[in-house]
Amino acid sequence: MCGIVGYVGRYNAKGILMNGLKKLEYRGYDSAGIAIISHRALVIRRCKGKISCLEERVLKEYIEGNVGVGHTRWATHGRPSEGNAHPHSDCASRLVVVHNGIIENYLQLKKRLLAGGHVFKSETDTEVIAHLVEQYLKPMKKKDLLKAVQLSIKQLKGSYAIAVISLDDPHTLVAARHFSPLIVGLGRDEYFVASDIPAILDRTKTVIPVQDNEIVHLTSLGAHFYDHNLRKITRKPMTIDWDPVTAEKGGYKHFMLKEIFEQPMTIQETIRGRFSLESGDLIFDENNLSKTAMKGIRKIYFVACGTAYHAGMVGKYLVEDIAKIPCEVDLASEFRYRKPLLDKETLIIAITQSGETADTLAALREAKRHGARTLAICNVTGSSATRDADGVVYTRTGPEIGVASTKAFTAQLAIICALAIYFAHVRAIITKKRTIELMESLYRLPRLVKKVLALEPAVKAVAQKYFKQRDFLYLGRNVNYPIALEGALKLKEISYIHAEGYAAGEMKHGPIALIDEQMPVVVLATGGVVYDKVLSNIQEIKARGGMVLALATEGDHHIKKIGVDDLIYMPQVAEVLSTITNTVVLQLFAYHVANLRGCDVDQPRNLAKSVVVE
Ligand code: AGP
Repeated sequence: MCGIVGYVGRYNAKGILMNGLKKLEYRGYDSAGIAIISHRALVIRRCKGKISCLEERVLKEYIEGNVGVGHTRWATHGRPSEGNAHPHSDCASRLVVVHNGIIENYLQLKKRLLAGGHVFKSETDTEVIAHLVEQYLKPMKKKDLLKAVQLSIKQLKGSYAIAVISLDDPHTLVAARHFSPLIVGLGRDEYFVASDIPAILDRTKTVIPVQDNEIVHLTSLGAHFYDHNLRKITRKPMTIDWDPVTAEKGGYKHFMLKEIFEQPMTIQETIRGRFSLESGDLIFDENNLSKTAMKGIRKIYFVACGTAYHAGMVGKYLVEDIAKIPCEVDLASEFRYRKPLLDKETLIIAITQSGETADTLAALREAKRHGARTLAICNVTGSSATRDADGVVYTRTGPEIGVASTKAFTAQLAIICALAIYFAHVRAIITKKRTIELMESLYRLPRLVKKVLALEPAVKAVAQKYFKQRDFLYLGRNVNYPIALEGALKLKEISYIHAEGYAAGEMKHGPIALIDEQMPVVVLATGGVVYDKVLSNIQEIKARGGMVLALATEGDHHIKKIGVDDLIYMPQVAEVLSTITNTVVLQLFAYHVANLRGCDVDQPRNLAKSVVVE
């Protein structure tokens, strides 16, 4: 996830662009840049690091010009560097583009453009857009940037929100959207495009959200909307009445709630373009592990902390079930002290949102010392874990601001599903046809998560009933046992209620002593091979006066008959994917309980977003 901003108007662009980027820093901050048309030249300034680095660079420089674009990056293709920072230009540096999203077919396009004599300067997917626009603009007698952009985006596969300016059409900015968010701001003799409202809110409150496949043409006279065939569209402006702080949270009260609701998009971005539909191979972001090395893996250790550890637990179930590779799951803080048996046929998969968790890094380095292969599932490009591991698969959720991990966790689960399918495919456990079928079920996940998010009012109502409780038990079985642990962690870390997750089958071995009228029990009963056993556990709890809040599959009327106290019906989904849909409900439940208790949801007491000390 990155942030883009564009300006055409009567005022100088530099300060407006820089202020807009600062308001978008929450969308990404590993590098930033601006480009302004100034006295018939394109002035481009880019910087690795936070926006403050770019600000230092341009602060004292007077750049005159009133057409410009800016970008703050959360890298997906190409490490954070000045060379990979946006804006990206064409060969002749007569035009630039800024982009948020992922161009899935950029390698094929790049190959074709290179063959056509184009010279590339970066490792990014975005740069292909600049060269495509150049390819169409150059031969035009009357330069028409709008037409050139329209022809270019027809070649793109993937997601994009782009803004383009050119010396050959110097009073114009053209923007386009497919899947990634984009808005137009209408000021007084000035017009804006941006990834999100905060970027322009102190200049105008009148905005028009750009819809998918629309193209926008900005000049100092106004903003014009077109469909992808350049047919004019009339769009009605809306007025935003948010204050800047609320705007940064997208209108949500907390970043955590915003990030919960981002999950359909972040899961989609994480799995988008992950599989080559020709070969069925998984497309890693970085991979020094050969296919032979991958085929030769005889054992996998998932190593992580906290929420990421729960993702590793799900990984064990999935990889053993689908790819038939023996797996272990270790808390990173325990892993290296227990002297694990490692060799080059062992693969350590380190799962870490930040890529900087000290325990996980130590475990990764210990594994490498023993000659094991290493893979990182990480959300931060260029972080320590991604530099230490042999291979990397990124969760593409953009910065996760809330300390309690939500969108990163479900993205980790999606990647782990894809890895399990990949290992099964590369070891010929499943056919290519089955591989594609399984991947397609993953591609349907974002729509399912959207459906689950619509359950929020029901979840909020249940939270209102339980938010004063002092203790909770969370129970799950099989692949949902780790989700019970994750649900309990979410609740305890943001509401400070004591909550314990347990394998439901463990109830009778101790925890059942805790059951009484004061002990609410959240039970994951969304079907699967152990559904009947879970029902028996619910009956054991009810027989002792316990309160049961159950998650069940819509259409399951049997569970009603055993007298659960509260029931949340979930959409029908394969048990493997119920780990993600159940998680979303448990995130919402924890959020609303904590919010009702007046807790600091985004920055809970005693916690840090990344634990960089052992
Ligand atoms: C998640 O809600 C917690 N804040 C915490 O457990 C976190 O998952 C853990 O510290 C691991 O962090 P990482 O994924 O950045 O390595």
